[in-house]
Amino acid sequence: MRRIDYDTEQYHDYVRGRALSEQQMAAWIGAFEGLLPGRRPLAGLDVGSGTGRYTPALAQAFGPVTGVEPSVRMREIAQQQSRHPDVRYLAGSAEDLPVPSGSADYALMFLSWHHVEDKPRAVEELARVLNPGGRLLLRENFSDHIPPSGWWLEYFPRGYEVDAAMFQPLHEVIATFTTAGWRVAGFGRVIEPSSGTRGEMLERLRLGVHSTLAHFTPDQLETGFRRLEQAVAADPDAPAPADPATLLTLERGS
Ligand SMILES: C[S@@+](CC[C@H](N)C(=O)[O-])C[C@H]1O[C@@H](n2cnc3c(N)ncnc32)[C@H](O)[C@@H]1O
Repeated sequence: MRRIDYDTEQYHDYVRGRALSEQQMAAWIGAFEGLLPGRRPLAGLDVGSGTGRYTPALAQAFGPVTGVEPSVRMREIAQQQSRHPDVRYLAGSAEDLPVPSGSADYALMFLSWHHVEDKPRAVEELARVLNPGGRLLLRENFSDHIPPSGWWLEYFPRGYEVDAAMFQPLHEVIATFTTAGWRVAGFGRVIEPSSGTRGEMLERLRLGVHSTLAHFTPDQLETGFRRLEQAVAADPDAPAPADPATLLTLERGS
């Protein structure tokens, strides 16, 4: 599949297109809270932090966070967005984390794992920077857990198939970690509350900041948006369905 380059696409509309409501953020922070130790502060890493959607909220809830992001443009926007005193953003990637060994209590990777090219190296790097027993919160979609992304996919020809092709099956991701000495600390779904009305969601989708859209052919895009518009027009103010999102928690061996 074509690699998404966040320095040339998506970065300009990402904040608008992927904005989270307070309820959505609260659902995520609540889920992370249940998976992390109770002591504060916790030193966190937001790996593939993008425009910093989660970074300040993580700092607010748990303690200082370093956002690591390879795209210059995404990082610049993150820096402009957040003035949180406990947040800093650094250039880097999951394969090359610019922080000392054993310096983090947890890491979040929110929809960034599928962009990582050298996954074994990323696993090694994550093990290096986490404390013994440190946790990786891997918010990721999996090709064998349908629907991987959103309710709107059903309107696009081969929508689920195109979407699923971006992701690995769950067992494959787990094996990459467990063969390197990690253990699975949890797997489940976090119900992300509705993102607003169906009409609002359609407007956000038109901004093109969901990577699946970048993998459709022009014909699939045209047909999909036409069908989706028709479906939404029937009741644009109906709430968009909540999203049962998969979250895998991995613990670094001691
Ligand atoms: C879908 S965005 C998610 C951004 C952010 N986590 C969020 O939820 O808003 C994926 C991000 O992963 C970043 N990324 C790409 N390759 C990466 C890598 N090898 N390591 C870490 N992040 C990477 C991209 O630059 C992009 O900002």
